[in-house]
Amino acid sequence: MPNPVQIPPLLLDAIRHSRSVSVLSGAGMSAESGVPTFRDAQTGLWARFRPDDLASPEAWDADPALVWAWYLWRAKLVRELEPNAGHRALAEWASRRDLDFSIITQNVDDLHERAGSEVLAHLHGSLFAFRCADCDAPSPLSSIEFPAEAHDRIDPPRCDECGGLIRPGVVWFGESLPLPEFQAAHEVMETVDLVLVVGSSSMVFPAAGLPLMARSFGASVVEINPSDTQLTESAHIVWRETAARALPALLSAISA
Ligand code: OAD
Repeated sequence: MPNPVQIPPLLLDAIRHSRSVSVLSGAGMSAESGVPTFRDAQTGLWARFRPDDLASPEAWDADPALVWAWYLWRAKLVRELEPNAGHRALAEWASRRDLDFSIITQNVDDLHERAGSEVLAHLHGSLFAFRCADCDAPSPLSSIEFPAEAHDRIDPPRCDECGGLIRPGVVWFGESLPLPEFQAAHEVMETVDLVLVVGSSSMVFPAAGLPLMARSFGASVVEINPSDTQLTESAHIVWRETAARALPALLSAISA
């Protein structure tokens, strides 16, 4: 039998005293759906690569077919998976009218949306958005061919506008975050009462700076994660639980 979920009493108090809540989700949010976290070892074709070495402009410049194949594989994997109980609990929480609720994610999957949530900001872009690497013209999802099986190299398609290569619409190491998304997240951090950081190692800035900013503006910061992170020491409340166990339990407790 799994251990019963124990909600920190301070967290229930903090929620009762909050009129606005923002969830910052990271890769751990989707782990129980079967999406490997970013820093998990990779399997299969990709076992010999580190994600950090593929998610970069340098990797793209050196070998676009390799990077394209990896992203198509990741997109295909996510399409075959389903939102977990944590995603669904957040969607239900967001639908309550007594609260100003937002979700800001570092994840490039679409599992929050498929659970029924509106995402205020995808800070690191999306696996399902594509654009020209040269002229930035968006390329519709319907124009992208997803192979039935994983390949280690696939030539990216060409842009209809300028003939440049189509690239994944994700943020790579060394690239700037999309400004409107980051500004929207910034604005929330200035006024929100409570920030829940779910499933992030809090290692990658500027996203990792958002809860610290919220804290400096007076918000309470809660970490929901089975392991210690870079945020742990700065969080007001630390809950060592997984997303798919913690969030439904929290929703039931505050709805009771
Ligand atoms: P990481 O892979 O760095 O960290 C995942 C976190 O999830 C870890 O702290 C785990 O302990 C935690 N975790 C694992 N299973 C969990 C579960 N079931 N429930 C809750 N937490 C769980 O992922 P991120 O912090 O999201 O950026 O990584 C941030 C960014 O690093 C990514 O968006 C990506 C990468 O660089 C870009 O690609 C730009």
